[in-house]
Amino acid sequence: KSGIITLDPGYKNTGSCESAITYLDGEQGILRYRGYTIEELAEKADFLEVAYLLIFGELPTKSQLEKFHDDIRDQAVVDEEMKKILDSFPKSAHPMGVLSSLTSALIAFNPSSVNVSSDEDMYRAIVKLMAKFPVLVAWTLRKKSGLPLDYGDDTLGYVENIAKMMFKKPNKEYKKNDIVINALDKLLILHADHEQNCSTSTVRIVGSSHAGLFASISAGISALWGPLHGGANQAVIEMLEGIKADGGDTKKYMAKAKDKDDPFRLMGFGHRVYKNFDPRARIIKKAADEVLGDLGVVDPVLDIAKGLEKEALEDQYFVDRKLYPNVDFYSGIIYRALGIPTEMFTVMFALGRLPGWIAQWREMRLRNEPIGRPRQVYIGETQRPFADIEKR
Ligand code: SDX
Repeated sequence: KSGIITLDPGYKNTGSCESAITYLDGEQGILRYRGYTIEELAEKADFLEVAYLLIFGELPTKSQLEKFHDDIRDQAVVDEEMKKILDSFPKSAHPMGVLSSLTSALIAFNPSSVNVSSDEDMYRAIVKLMAKFPVLVAWTLRKKSGLPLDYGDDTLGYVENIAKMMFKKPNKEYKKNDIVINALDKLLILHADHEQNCSTSTVRIVGSSHAGLFASISAGISALWGPLHGGANQAVIEMLEGIKADGGDTKKYMAKAKDKDDPFRLMGFGHRVYKNFDPRARIIKKAADEVLGDLGVVDPVLDIAKGLEKEALEDQYFVDRKLYPNVDFYSGIIYRALGIPTEMFTVMFALGRLPGWIAQWREMRLRNEPIGRPRQVYIGETQRPFADIEKR
């Protein structure tokens, strides 16, 4: 019952892995994708560039990026039958459940994406998913809002086209350096990968059985949905709204968060790895001020969030447990300012994490890693004889 197991020599311990994609230092609050700091990438790169970097290991040249984007554009059509599957969901369906189902349903219309062994086959499956997943995200949002579906415009940039499919405003509004595009680019980059978190580990272990890329990503979406993981960005806004409705009494909620008998936790706070500021939270907090200022949006929950953060950083309970704001604490405030419904926040997290999941799946397959099979510490009954029902 020590919690420590000794594996037979040579057992392929698949509980953890080697990876060359993302580096985290939880004590120092460092995050790097393929050696580049998240601060530089969020400031200087765009999301498709970062997706290429994560998946293929190097920042693309101009021609490599153009070819990648062209190959994606060639695959952007989603089978009309998929709309019938989307329409079969009740309006009340949570968008994460819809997205996970639609991603799995894509397999039926793209059977060649399943049995991939060569890097070429993997590339074809990857560009199909990079092309069709944003369409599914946009369709899920528009279905939730009761709006007509849009196929986008392949003359636009990758993120510009996503914005057009989601918000459907005239093309003229979606160009480089537009406030909305810059905010989306930055948020998607900040969510793109994060080492072996719950949903990425899910993608790797499902992929290790060779179930295929789309099935692995569908499983990752389900793992991300949980409020302890990606679902926290929705839970943060619901928490802040609750505090606002309750008169903005942050001290009352700080006390609840520390009360062992109270299930309430400060959503958007704490992290398994970061025992310092989540570097993404610093960038998103700054971006929230900029985006809301640029858009002329005044959101009272931003002030409540800042008040909570200040109190928590000065509170001994939080200081002792090294609890800091994480990526989910401020992101919802920006999504809200962009007009994205609260229930869609975790879908936006999945959209950002897609290239990271793809990169981790590709790395695992190219390294021919064995099927994932973690072991356990058995704490159950020792052997005992069967008892007939009359004697139980
Ligand atoms: C993401 O792994 C990743 O990289 C994930 C992610 C990514 O990019 O993929 O970064 C994205 O999922 C961010 C996390 C989003 N989740 C939340 O914001 C939910 C709220 N946070 C907590 O549920 C919690 O902090 C976790 C789940 C994030 C981490 O949980 P751990 O590592 O299992 O820590 P723990 O629950 O053991 O907490 C240690 C102590 C406990 O107190 P003690 O029993 O030691 O007295 O800290 C307390 C906890 O009660 N604690 C909190 C708290 N988080 C931890 N107390 C109040 N509020 C909180 N938010």
